[in-house]
Amino acid sequence: MTGTTAATSDYEGLGEFHDLFMVERWRALRPVFEATFGDLGPEATLLDLGAGTGLGTRTLAACTRARIVAVEPSRTMRAVLTARIADDDDLAERVSVVAGAAPEILQDVAGPLAGFVCAHMLGHLTVAQRAGTFAALRPLLLLGAAGVATVDPGGAGSSELMTEERRIGSQRYVVRYLPSDADNRYASEYEVHDETGRAVRAERFEGSWTSVTAAALAAELDQDGWSVEPGDQSTVVLRAPGGIA
Ligand SMILES: C[S@@+](CC[C@H](N)C(=O)[O-])C[C@H]1O[C@@H](n2cnc3c(N)ncnc32)[C@H](O)[C@@H]1O
Repeated sequence: MTGTTAATSDYEGLGEFHDLFMVERWRALRPVFEATFGDLGPEATLLDLGAGTGLGTRTLAACTRARIVAVEPSRTMRAVLTARIADDDDLAERVSVVAGAAPEILQDVAGPLAGFVCAHMLGHLTVAQRAGTFAALRPLLLLGAAGVATVDPGGAGSSELMTEERRIGSQRYVVRYLPSDADNRYASEYEVHDETGRAVRAERFEGSWTSVTAAALAAELDQDGWSVEPGDQSTVVLRAPGGIA
C-alpha cells in the first residue's frame, strides 16, 4: 500500500537538489549509528523510515552488517534511492526499498526489527502521525531494539536565512533556506549559475516542518513507556518497553 502525505509532494521538485547539501549532516550521524547498530549481524533487519535519496541509508549500511528496509513515499526521492542502491553490489544485496508513508506503510513491514532510523523526517509528521508511527513500530521491534532519530536543537523553527553553495562541474548551485513562518511553512530557493556567474535556473520550493526537540519527543513518547536518551546534540536513541523475545 502506498501512503501519501503533504510532505511527499514537497519533495517532488526539491528532490533534484536534496543531496547537494546533505552530505555533512550525514557524516555527523556516523558515530551514533556505529554505537547503536555496529554490533548487529547480517541476520538483523533495520528500518530506515523516510530514507529519502539513500544518502543516509548508505551511511547506515557502512556502520552495520544488518539488512535494511528503506521506506520512502516520494517518487522523486525514491527514484534516486533505488538507483543509489542498485548501483552498489553490497547495498543491492542488503537494502530493500519500500514505497509508502508512515504510519500506514508500517502495516506492510515485516518484523522483527533490530532497530530503526528516523533521520530528518519526524518534523514532517503531525503529532498524531508520530504517535501512530511509534505505536505501529512497537510490535515490530525485537527486545532491546533501539531507534535513532534526529531532533532539532532549538524549540522554534529556523529564524535566520541560511545560504550554502556547491560546485558541480562548471556550475555553482546556491541554496537559500528562508526563515519558517508562524505556521511552520518553510521555503528554500535554489539557483544554478554558469561559469560566467549568470543564473541559468531558479527554483523555489515550499513545505512544512514542525520543530521536534528531544524534550518534545520524550514528552510525546513518555506515556507509552519509551525511553529517549540523548545520542549527541542532534540525535536521540529511542527504546520501546518490551519487544519480541
Ligand atoms: C529531509 S528528507 C530526509 C531524508 C533522509 N532521511 C536523510 O536524512 O537524508 C525527509 C524525507 O522524509 C520523507 N517523508 C515525509 N513524510 C513521511 C512519512 N509520513 N513517512 C515516511 N517518510 C516521510 C520525505 O519524502 C523525505 O524523503
